Amino acid sequence: MVKKLSSDRVNLRGWAPSDAPFVFDLYSRWDVQRYLGHEPRVMENPTQAEGLIERLRAVDDPALGYWAVEAADTGTLVGTVMLQGIGLSGTSSPSDQVEIGWHFHPDAWGRGYATDAARVALEHGFAAGLDSILAVAHADNFPSHRICRRLGMEDAGTTNAYYDAEYELFVAKKGRRSKPTTA
Ligand SMILES: CC(C)(COP(=O)(O)OP(=O)(O)OC[C@H]1O[C@@H](n2cnc3c(N)ncnc32)[C@H](O)[C@@H]1OP(=O)(O)O)[C@@H](O)C(=O)NCCC(=O)NCCS
Repeated sequence: MVKKLSSDRVNLRGWAPSDAPFVFDLYSRWDVQRYLGHEPRVMENPTQAEGLIERLRAVDDPALGYWAVEAADTGTLVGTVMLQGIGLSGTSSPSDQVEIGWHFHPDAWGRGYATDAARVALEHGFAAGLDSILAVAHADNFPSHRICRRLGMEDAGTTNAYYDAEYELFVAKKGRRSKPTTA
């Protein structure tokens, strides 16, 4: 189970089986899936959400994990943030380089929750001993690029090194300050 984390605006906690309806609602949307993975596809049935939650709950690592993100004021689930081994092109297993990712429900977009949750997860990753954390985003995924920049991540340009696809690469280094959420 991942460590509980928080900021003034978001709470990060482990996934629970009862979160399956939210997970299905999130990943069955093309707006959410369109930039995810090599061949994006929407989730088609709630059983897939239950299976996914089971797999995410099984990850037990001091630094890495998959967090459910709630708005702190209402307790409503708004999305997820994750730290995981990034997949190197040409291999099927994750590398020991770590990436951060974020998937939020469209109802919660435009409020800064993703940036806030990502900042909390980055701080956790660095406190747990990571020295650098990567993010890769589709060239057209401008909302994600903006999050990376707000977090103070360095834009390292276009790369084919991950997931057998072309992505924009961003790098966060331990000790580098991020900009305030409202910037
Ligand atoms: C990527 C994604 C998380 C971005 O969501 P988002 O809501 O734009 O990001 P944030 O939560 O950080 O919100 C930032 C926006 O909220 C606005 N905002 C409003 N109130 C705010 C507040 N109190 N604090 C901070 N920002 C606030 C900001 O101005 C900013 O808008 P801008 O980007 O148009 O300038 C979302 O589009 C998503 O989940 N997409 C699908 C999954 C995906 O593609 N993931 C990334 C794969 S690489």
